[in-house]
Amino acid sequence: MNSDLVAVLDLGSTKVTCLAASAEGSDGMAIHAISTVPCRGMRKGQVSDLAEVSRAIAHVVKAVEEQVGEEIDGVVVGVSGGHIEGVNSQGLKPIFPAGRKITHQDVLEVINHSRELNVGDEREQIQALPREFRVDGQRNVQRPVGKNGAKLEVFSYIVTGQTSSLQNIERAVAEAGKHVEQMVIQPLASGIGVLTPQEMELGAAVIDIGGSTTDVAIFINGSIAFSISIPLGGLSVTNDLSTLLKTSPEEAEKLKVQSGHAKASMIDEKESIEVQQLGQPVGRPMQRRVLCEIIESRMREIATLVGKELENSPFGTALPGGIALTGGGAALPGTDILFGETLSRYRFRVAEPKLSKKFNPQAGLATSVGLASFTIQCFDELSPANGVQPWRDKVKSLFSMLNTK
Ligand SMILES: Nc1ncnc2c1ncn2[C@@H]1O[C@H](COP(=O)(O)OP(=O)(O)OP(=O)(O)O)[C@@H](O)[C@H]1O
Ligand SMILES: [Mg+2]
Repeated sequence: MNSDLVAVLDLGSTKVTCLAASAEGSDGMAIHAISTVPCRGMRKGQVSDLAEVSRAIAHVVKAVEEQVGEEIDGVVVGVSGGHIEGVNSQGLKPIFPAGRKITHQDVLEVINHSRELNVGDEREQIQALPREFRVDGQRNVQRPVGKNGAKLEVFSYIVTGQTSSLQNIERAVAEAGKHVEQMVIQPLASGIGVLTPQEMELGAAVIDIGGSTTDVAIFINGSIAFSISIPLGGLSVTNDLSTLLKTSPEEAEKLKVQSGHAKASMIDEKESIEVQQLGQPVGRPMQRRVLCEIIESRMREIATLVGKELENSPFGTALPGGIALTGGGAALPGTDILFGETLSRYRFRVAEPKLSKKFNPQAGLATSVGLASFTIQCFDELSPANGVQPWRDKVKSLFSMLNTK
């Protein structure tokens, strides 16, 4: 694979996407290829059907290889779900002789000190994201290398995942003939995909409403401070419709996408739709507003759960940069209105990454675009210098992305 091309994989609960991109200019990114295929082998961030997932991976990677005209070996994979946890940690390193210039190695060592956590036998660390450095107590140092000091501290965000779940993802990628370069948490990627560096600096959040999960991440001072995955999403809405209206899942999905709205009161009572129920030879007319009431009830539950998570986190109170709603679930009209009404202290907008005209617009691309952007722009890769360097030992600084100008 051409060294300046990165390939990323979003293993979603409704689709698998592969995207290839490269750096452009000092802080930009050019997307060269995107391929998406429906896939139902992932559930809530876990591989539920290994053969289905690896087939989908092989399919999208091959399509991207054909578009870029070169072979892809390694991929950066987004991970999400209830087994992923992020904790804030601290590291400290005395500098000897006191007052000398801080080196890259010192930065690595202090980050690794912050990684000395007991995560239990069944979990492992995926990412260590430095949020803030302090030199001799001076706060908010973003690039400590080259500064003189006697004490270097770091506040970092350590992400862990369940080893067995991560191994299943690695296996699915391996069976498609590729290897995992690195795993990156999806909420971080979605945030990078749709929030601006300024919003992240001010304090902002992203809510990625996918198929079976809704991922939430909060960014403060330009770095991720909190993330959580809620096990509900657009598929929950579709399942409600198919149960309550007695339709096939396909009919429920079609009704939702063609006639759905998250605010039922905005739909005229006189509007009628046709519903094809299971076992019935012909469709039945129904008030469109009734369809939207079912949708609204589940979307309101998702909004309420998100609100609880934001309130429980120490960072969710002030988000002057606003909240971006993304993911396929946010493509439902009225989603921003419903969230704004349910969680009235926040400002919401629906956001999808901007793509060049050569790609068809498609909902649910924030994770893939953000994964590529993170991989390319957080180039300051701090790999521990001891021997073999598997992806597990890599740490990437989000700061580097925000300070390239
Ligand atoms: N125009 C639309 N209106 C309503 N819902 C939509 C629309 N487009 C997509 N969706 C819904 O978005 C959901 C899929 O979103 P997305 O592609 O972001 O999920 P995913 O990444 O596969 O899943 P996850 O992130 O949970 O693993 C589906 O439930 C689908 O019904
Ligand atoms: Mg997703």
